Amino acid sequence: MALLPILRYPDPRLHKVAKPVQAVDDRIRTLVRDMAETMYDAPGVGLAATQVDVHERVVVIDVSEDSNDLRVLINPEIIWKSEETQVYEEGCLSVPGIYDEVERAARIRVRTLNQEGQTVEFDAEGLLAVCVQHELDHLMGKVFVEYLSSLKQNRIKTRLRKQEREAMKA
Ligand code: NI
Repeated sequence: MALLPILRYPDPRLHKVAKPVQAVDDRIRTLVRDMAETMYDAPGVGLAATQVDVHERVVVIDVSEDSNDLRVLINPEIIWKSEETQVYEEGCLSVPGIYDEVERAARIRVRTLNQEGQTVEFDAEGLLAVCVQHELDHLMGKVFVEYLSSLKQNRIKTRLRKQEREAMKA
């Protein structure tokens, strides 16, 4: 097991588009274990492989209160989205300390491979729906702050670059 370094916005590698996983093998299962450990350690409710600089379609999510309901999504696709939307205040391990409201579909249906390489489908609403859409955006190279105004995005970039400089001095 290993903790993986998480890329921080505005790192350009966060904008790479992930490729589909070719085979759900031990290499992928090790990646999944390390990503889950990294997410729980952070702590966070979701992590996409893009955020640990692996550009393959792998996501881990756990929105349960006791952090005991890990969901592993390999090559996930959203196959249905509700017209109805919900606004949720989102955060991201790659954008530490920044939270803002994003509007997304309220309900979705997801088709994905699990760790055994089997195709499964599930419906999601509430926080799980938010989280799946947020993580699938990461796989497409999109960070949630890109839904905000350019003024807000510039402020966030300035703030995070300043944090990074101060962390390097310390
Ligand atoms: Ni994120």
